[in-house]
Amino acid sequence: MMTKRAPLASAAALLSVAWAAAALTLPTVAHAGSPAPAPGASTPGSSASGVGPETQTGSPATAAPSLIPNPYASGSAQAGATKAAVCFSCHGPDGNSQNPVWPRLAGQNAVYIAQQLHLFKAGIRQNPVMQPMAAGLSDQDIDNLAVFFAAQTPQGLEADPSYWKPGRALYLQGEVKRGIPGCVACHGPLGRGNPAAGYPALEAQQSVYVVSQLQQYANGTRYSGPNAASATPNSIIMFDIAKRLTPEDMRDVASYVQGLR
Ligand code: HEC
Ligand code: HEC
Repeated sequence: MMTKRAPLASAAALLSVAWAAAALTLPTVAHAGSPAPAPGASTPGSSASGVGPETQTGSPATAAPSLIPNPYASGSAQAGATKAAVCFSCHGPDGNSQNPVWPRLAGQNAVYIAQQLHLFKAGIRQNPVMQPMAAGLSDQDIDNLAVFFAAQTPQGLEADPSYWKPGRALYLQGEVKRGIPGCVACHGPLGRGNPAAGYPALEAQQSVYVVSQLQQYANGTRYSGPNAASATPNSIIMFDIAKRLTPEDMRDVASYVQGLR
């Protein structure tokens, strides 16, 4: 399934490994046969067609959503701002939600936002509140919303002083003995994630939400379906890591990332 490709930057190379894994379980992804540009990198003269959600239009309901949308190429933040009005009641007017169980979207990378919206729409990421919100969005709406929220400035609560120190150690160093990699490797020193690869930002994220997602990865419920753990090219990473975290680890690291800016 994988086509020959030119040498890629390290983030993209990491991703191509994930792609190889994804291709094993999802042999019909629209990406196959395309020249495999680094997602998020918009090459002049080329559109997102190989990686964009458009290529999935009309595919059967059982098909996986487009795995690596490239909203940076086709999204309009201005159009997204209009569409986003309906999201503000929960995610806050600028994507900084006030409710600890509703995630912050401000400053989240657009590739990740778009991917998650496609997953809600397809019912692979299940949530009774978000699924109806995503159901009516077109591929273009998703790209527009993704770049709009990505352009907002993350703000929010600070780290809890009782927990963030052990959380910082785990975030920066992981714990070799238990096979836990430092979160910093993928989520970055400031929690900004990796926009090209679609690794989510964690900075200023609500700690309650972060704990709930770590629990869902650990117990395998973040995504549903026959290949839940590889529902996205990237998700298998977190299914594995979260299983190694104790409830205290989750609490501590969530507190630390909530304070990251
Ligand atoms: C009624 C409240 C509500 C509204 C309105 C709402 N959301 Fe959500 N959203 C949620 C909740 C709750 C979650 C967390 C779901 C979970 O725990 O899996 C969420 C999760 C998300 C996520 C995943 C974030 C992440 O970090 O993984 C995205 C993206 C998102 N919403 C986008 C939107 C967009 C775009 C809109 C408007 C079209 C919208 N939401 C409207 C409540 C809402
Ligand atoms: C090897 C790369 C990598 C490492 C190391 C890593 N993550 Fe992740 N993380 C990811 C990717 C990729 C995703 C998105 C997965 C998906 O598609 O569901 C993610 C998702 C998450 C999410 C969900 C974010 C959201 O908005 O819903 C949380 C929370 C998270 N990681 C926390 C951590 C913590 C805490 C650590 C360290 C103990 C860690 N991650 C280590 C790559 C990594």
